[in-house]
Amino acid sequence: MVPSIDYLDSFVNVVSVQLKHSCSSEMKLFCLILLIINGITVSRSEQYEVVGPSDPVLAVAGEDVILSCSVKPLMSVVDMRVEWSRPDLRGSVVHLYEEHEDKNTDQSQYRGRTKLNLQELQRGNASLKLSSVQVSDEGRYMCFIQSKFWFDDTTVDVKVEAVGSPPVITVDGFDDSGGLRLQCESEGWYPEPVLEWLDSEGVRLSSETTDTHRGTDRFSVKHTITVHHRDDKIHCRVKLRHHMLETLIIGSSNMFNSWKTPVNLISVIVVVIVIAGIAGLLIAVFFHKNRELSRDFHFLQSQKSHIQDVITYLRKHKVNVILDADTAHPHLIMSSDGKQLRYEEIRLERVDWEEEQNDKFDKYLTVLGKEGFYTGCFYYEVQVKGQTVWDLGVARESTKKKGSIDMNILSGYWTTGLRYEKYLHLSYDSSEVLFSMKTKPQRVGVFVDYEKGQVSFYDVDSSSHIYSYADQSFNEKIYPFLSLGYKSNDNSTALVICDDY
Ligand SMILES: *[C@@H]1O[C@H](CO)[C@@H](O)[C@H](O)[C@H]1NC(C)=O
Ligand SMILES: *[C@@H]1O[C@H](CO)[C@@H](O)[C@H](O)[C@H]1NC(C)=O
Repeated sequence: MVPSIDYLDSFVNVVSVQLKHSCSSEMKLFCLILLIINGITVSRSEQYEVVGPSDPVLAVAGEDVILSCSVKPLMSVVDMRVEWSRPDLRGSVVHLYEEHEDKNTDQSQYRGRTKLNLQELQRGNASLKLSSVQVSDEGRYMCFIQSKFWFDDTTVDVKVEAVGSPPVITVDGFDDSGGLRLQCESEGWYPEPVLEWLDSEGVRLSSETTDTHRGTDRFSVKHTITVHHRDDKIHCRVKLRHHMLETLIIGSSNMFNSWKTPVNLISVIVVVIVIAGIAGLLIAVFFHKNRELSRDFHFLQSQKSHIQDVITYLRKHKVNVILDADTAHPHLIMSSDGKQLRYEEIRLERVDWEEEQNDKFDKYLTVLGKEGFYTGCFYYEVQVKGQTVWDLGVARESTKKKGSIDMNILSGYWTTGLRYEKYLHLSYDSSEVLFSMKTKPQRVGVFVDYEKGQVSFYDVDSSSHIYSYADQSFNEKIYPFLSLGYKSNDNSTALVICDDY
């Protein structure tokens, strides 16, 4: 029997596919000839081109990304072999689809994070979905598609960016000439971000010391500055491509007159502002006729979704706070599950609680959590909506509970709260400080990093940073702390520990 022309064609093609893989430089000419034969013999309907994006794909750490790859002209690739690999990592396999199934035995860092869509394969779309992007995913990817008769590939460059924590400004005291020393710190960025200080006019101020530290794969930055002018607003801005997080420090008007007094008179309010959102929108409007539009919206969205991520990140440290009735002021009513707290004016029939040797707060309408912490990070959220006087935070185990206590960091309380509906209340040192707030939080997140000595408060709904105590030393167990003010509270709205996230 004489083999059919078709049969011969297939034979030559299979051989040439093998050869294109194994062509050494000496064999180039031979290979070329075979490839030309191949090109002539493969019927046009079996040839295809593999195409991918021409620009690098931007991926945000922690999120998912699609690496596009498809064949042109459109044909099903269900029966073909689709191999995603990393040519820059000695060709290590990212995802392999062969003989109608995924064959992922050799995936290492990509295990469980890659997915091809089978329906899309029928439409010639071999795009790879990569989940929970890591910084180490940055690099070059090859999409290789091979049929019985033909093969082609394309490469996709992936750039990863990780947006770090909102910058935290701390006051470092005064230098000999009366300048105010400020330090701004932010961590968790990739690649290295730019940190800059700006005065209230938006003029850049140069940092005195700059310190960049690279952890396993992310960067932390810390810059200091000494401010001599009477400037009531200093911004610390950390930028990475189209992402920007900014923190503002607002000094009280007598900040510089009072430089000889200790830092405790300096009132500090820190607000995280997302300007990139607005800028992105303006750019998007400006380019509304251009193809830039979709790109800018992409950045706008990724910025927004990042801001949500701050809370998402903190929520990973969630602890189950149950209020401890044994520490509660007698006028506080608690739900049976220990999750809600409200004030009720009750006539006390001289139950001897005052004389009792108990561990209750007797003047402040305060309660602690049952469980204390002496290591690691923890986070809890409280709904404060509708309540007009509240304080939240953490307290040291040994702290005094009886009488009119100065609830400040010296006596072992790290708190913030609300007064008269619109003022942020801080008891930083021996004096109490009130600040007017832009927005009234409905739900407040409290984050503590025990080792770093940091207590931060967040407005959960706007995902904005309210205030942080930094570089504290706790030295002993600390407990979640909730309070409805001093002696009485006109409003019976409950504070609720939130567990719905
Ligand atoms: C290809 O498939 C992916 C899902 O794997 C999808 O997100 C993408 O939109 C598809 N591309 C086209 C051009 O249909
Ligand atoms: C508590 O105060 C808020 C704000 O003034 C008010 O809307 C609410 O009705 C008050 N609730 C109670 C139970 O007094």
